[in-house]
Amino acid sequence: MSLLIESITLELKAIEAAGTWKKERVIASPQRARIVLKNGIEALNFCANNYLGLSDNNEVISAAKIALDKYGAGLSSVRFICGTQEIHVELEKKIARFHGRENAILYASCFDANAGLFETLLTSEDTVLSDELNHASIIDGIRLCKAKKHRYKHRDMVDLENKLQDSMSSRLRLIATDGVFSMDGTVTPLPKILELAKKYCALTFVDDCHATGFFGNSGRGTEDYFNQLGSIDIINSTLGKALGGAAGGYTTGKKELIDLLRQRSRPYLFSNSLPPPVVASASKVMDLIINSTEILDRLKSNTNLFRSNMKKAGFTISGDNHPICPIMIGDARLTTEFADKMMEQGIYVTGFSYPVVPKGKARIRVQISAAHSQNDIEHAINAFVYNARKLKIIK
Ligand SMILES: Cc1ncc(COP(=O)(O)O)c(C=O)c1O
Repeated sequence: MSLLIESITLELKAIEAAGTWKKERVIASPQRARIVLKNGIEALNFCANNYLGLSDNNEVISAAKIALDKYGAGLSSVRFICGTQEIHVELEKKIARFHGRENAILYASCFDANAGLFETLLTSEDTVLSDELNHASIIDGIRLCKAKKHRYKHRDMVDLENKLQDSMSSRLRLIATDGVFSMDGTVTPLPKILELAKKYCALTFVDDCHATGFFGNSGRGTEDYFNQLGSIDIINSTLGKALGGAAGGYTTGKKELIDLLRQRSRPYLFSNSLPPPVVASASKVMDLIINSTEILDRLKSNTNLFRSNMKKAGFTISGDNHPICPIMIGDARLTTEFADKMMEQGIYVTGFSYPVVPKGKARIRVQISAAHSQNDIEHAINAFVYNARKLKIIK
């Protein structure tokens, strides 16, 4: 043990020395636009994945409370032994209906959905082609499978095509990508991916964690944004961001695919069922968004307000009109200082630097929510402009 502790201590010191130590700010309120920290400080929150602002929605909370009373705290079982309640089946049906797919399967998280997918579907005769900047859980999921692995350059369709050509002897080819890349707010070039998939007879997989529920005309995610509803073969997503923010993930697609995942997918077979309050809160969110675009329209208008005014003020904002708005600064220390100064003025934002993003491309990632008021957004913009002028980032 002493040898292990010694080597851990060295590693911890190295993390600190590299300036990449992640501190956790403790929140004493629910997740929402205006949060209270444990030290009593109030802050406007601009760094949650609470895109639709439903994490503290009253209807969502009461649905969870009712389910707690009616169905209990948890199942003490995996789904196939004695852990499936009617609400699990209902939620899977709602998710499939929302995406216009034949069926869906719930997991404890999208990390698990990604971990359980590739190994179940692909054999050593297959090839998976994965964007180099895909989420860690896709990378880990792919690692677990026996298929041949190709990493194509980020959003580089020439490289993807070359790698598809190289894999024509495989039984199956699966192209795997994030729908929206969370560090950049950029969208995968889905139309071109679909064209290449057709040309080279490949399947498509999209992780739509940063798109489901709010991106595209009706919030159906990346395929909706490109007016290509129903075009992706397999979609994985999370219930832990826009869809209430509690926990959970899923895969949706063809019936046979979901049937096989239920039989073989290891994180599904060997991990506990989602707790009833979590299922009920996600189910209530589905009801709120399935027939109405009111909340996502508010998110769109908040996003436009923030992006257009920040650009006018002279900031460079990366991304494709998405509520993830990375404000590009460049220098890592300046970015940290900027984020700290914003916090002093009650605006909670996070700076990201190497190794999370490439060297010299440090940024403050702002995430807009439907829960922000126009006042909140304007207040944040004013604070950004004030501090950026002081730090000589803009004139
Ligand atoms: C693109 C992407 N995929 C998967 C996940 C994992 O989702 P979950 O929190 O449901 O495990 C995340 C969460 O950060 C994500 O951003």
